[in-house]
Amino acid sequence: MNTKASTLLISAVFVLCAQVQAQNKDRWYTPQQVKQGEVVFKQNCAACHGQNAELTINWKQPDANGIYPPPPLNGTAHAWHHDLDVLRQQIREGGQKYGGVMPPFGQLLSAEQIDMAISYFQSKWPEDLYQRWAKNFEVSSLPSLDDIVVANEKAITRRLQNQLGNVELDEVKATIIDDLWQVRVKDKYIYLLENGRYAVVGDLIDLESGRNLSEQERRQTTADSQPE
Ligand code: HEC
Repeated sequence: MNTKASTLLISAVFVLCAQVQAQNKDRWYTPQQVKQGEVVFKQNCAACHGQNAELTINWKQPDANGIYPPPPLNGTAHAWHHDLDVLRQQIREGGQKYGGVMPPFGQLLSAEQIDMAISYFQSKWPEDLYQRWAKNFEVSSLPSLDDIVVANEKAITRRLQNQLGNVELDEVKATIIDDLWQVRVKDKYIYLLENGRYAVVGDLIDLESGRNLSEQERRQTTADSQPE
């Protein structure tokens, strides 16, 4: 396999990891992370965002100089519109370089500490809001294997079927990557190596163009299956 293909596969594996993590119906973080996150947050963030990430209540109201106050991170403002990577980036880079006032934390806090801080303020989000966020950004659990769809005779499918306990699968399609095949499972994709030995679940990203190829297909398929 060439390097480009392996990079793509690796990114698919990351997506898989994120999904498997979420599969235990729990949130993406552990109670331990929230506990450590509380310390990180109270030391570094609470002065502006509040002890419970609840400040500022009137976050849409700029001050006399036109400067916006820190928004609450407890789910009542905007933070849930961003995926995990954007949240991480906002904390690493701060807002100053975009004309805001939040200082960057990339030098002060490790990636682990930043994740802990996020887990702390996300632990304040109501369950339904967290679920909406998780669904938007596909931090979701995998479909149950019983839900997996219809049949096809290809060897890869049969092998996968054996692995999955004889569920029926949708048709297998080639991808732009040599030796990598795709099976659609509802709105998710399983990618298989030609030899049928390895399978990953997730989205295929073209790192060169930044395009999410799975998302493209998903849209396409949805558009095709709708009458108008
Ligand atoms: C000096 C005050 C201050 C500190 C300290 C601070 N922030 Fe902020 N934060 C802000 C402000 C103000 C904004 C709005 C953007 C801007 O003006 O930079 C913001 C924005 C954010 C956002 C984006 C929210 C959204 O709705 O898009 C996140 C996430 C965030 N902060 C997390 C943190 C975390 C985590 C820490 C601690 C590691 C922290 N902030 C420390 C003031 C602060």
